[in-house]
Amino acid sequence: MKNFYISNRERLAQLMDDNSAAILLSGGEVTKTGDENYPFTPSCNFLYLTGIAQPGVILLLAKQGGEVSQTLFIPPFDEEQARWTGAVMLPDEAKVVSGIDDIKYDYKFYDILAGVLFGKRIQSVWLDLENRTFFRNSGENDLADMIKRGYPHIGIKNLYNVLADMRRTKQPHELEKIRRAAEITGMGIEAMLKNVHPGMREYALEAYFDFALKTNGVKEHAFKSIVASGKNAAVLHYSDNSDVIADNSLVLCDVGARWEYYCGDVTRTFPANGHFSDRQRLLYNTVLEGQRRVMSAIRPGVPFKSLNETLLKYYETALADIGLIDTAEQVKKYYWHGVSHMLGIETHDAGRHNEGLLEPGMVLTVEPGLYIAEEGIGIRIEDDVVVTENGCSVLSDGIPKTVEEIESAMNG
Ligand code: GLY
Ligand code: MN
Ligand code: MN
Repeated sequence: MKNFYISNRERLAQLMDDNSAAILLSGGEVTKTGDENYPFTPSCNFLYLTGIAQPGVILLLAKQGGEVSQTLFIPPFDEEQARWTGAVMLPDEAKVVSGIDDIKYDYKFYDILAGVLFGKRIQSVWLDLENRTFFRNSGENDLADMIKRGYPHIGIKNLYNVLADMRRTKQPHELEKIRRAAEITGMGIEAMLKNVHPGMREYALEAYFDFALKTNGVKEHAFKSIVASGKNAAVLHYSDNSDVIADNSLVLCDVGARWEYYCGDVTRTFPANGHFSDRQRLLYNTVLEGQRRVMSAIRPGVPFKSLNETLLKYYETALADIGLIDTAEQVKKYYWHGVSHMLGIETHDAGRHNEGLLEPGMVLTVEPGLYIAEEGIGIRIEDDVVVTENGCSVLSDGIPKTVEEIESAMNG
């Protein structure tokens, strides 16, 4: 794995202009309440460049005259802290994981940065400034302010889109991790299929998913699980998961395991009592056919945004045929999100959704939905695919999906 991070840094350094430096932060812990923190999640771009998933670590890359220097700053070992919360990564471990030889302690960062900025006659500093963090407190914003104040001759550049483009196509070992994340996600979905029954709480059903993940080596979810029965399924990001599951309702489960930092993102919708009604089957098969059509439209060179257009075009006639709509305009009453997003280290992975053309190695979700609040029905079917040379291959295959597969998994 070390070679992956080394080569990612080399690719980044090639994209940086001469006389520039890049600073990336792993991120800090966030207080939940009192002395309790939220679980730490490293910055995905930092992880992509270093493989290190610890808080408070800084990567400094400087490029001058084509020469690239790389330094990693880590928190020092603190014996007292080690006795309370465990030891931090030691310099040798950081070196082995990242492939960076120059490891220093974090208290040296500002002095060394000053030396690099002056000594190497740096003209610009690249920071990872994601647009959603522009108006929030963040270490990157603080660094930008500090550089603007202390080094007004230095320009700030944004790394975010550079890294998003680098992360857009996946290497074979990344595909294997997404495949494994999807596979374990599927195990969790099958556990829910086998154990759902009317009268249980949505979170009790969710517990079967969580149990399957933990017993299969996964500690982390890709995102908050959505276990939405009946009308709740018409709320796209419902995650309260507290209602009682009614008989004759459909349950939409949009769930994902994260395996070695790569995400699965799969949705299945199934009948609480194990049998689709005629109406539910009709609507379900309409969505399933939509997914099939979008998947068969995927191939290199196709515009990303045309995938949603493929689904909308199909829905315009399919929803009219089943009497749900009279005009094409009305489709958006029942379906209003996009059909695909990039998938990778993040569930909604970096990579400019809806822009550009599909390329081999891109991983996307295909997730048509149909949400009929007035009937208390929400259906979504979501799988994860990789774009291949002449189409796509489903990374989340083997999870019950047709009406027959679902009913047989539930009743077999
Ligand atoms: N699970 C969130 C999504 O499907 O985009
Ligand atoms: Mn999803
Ligand atoms: Mn998704």
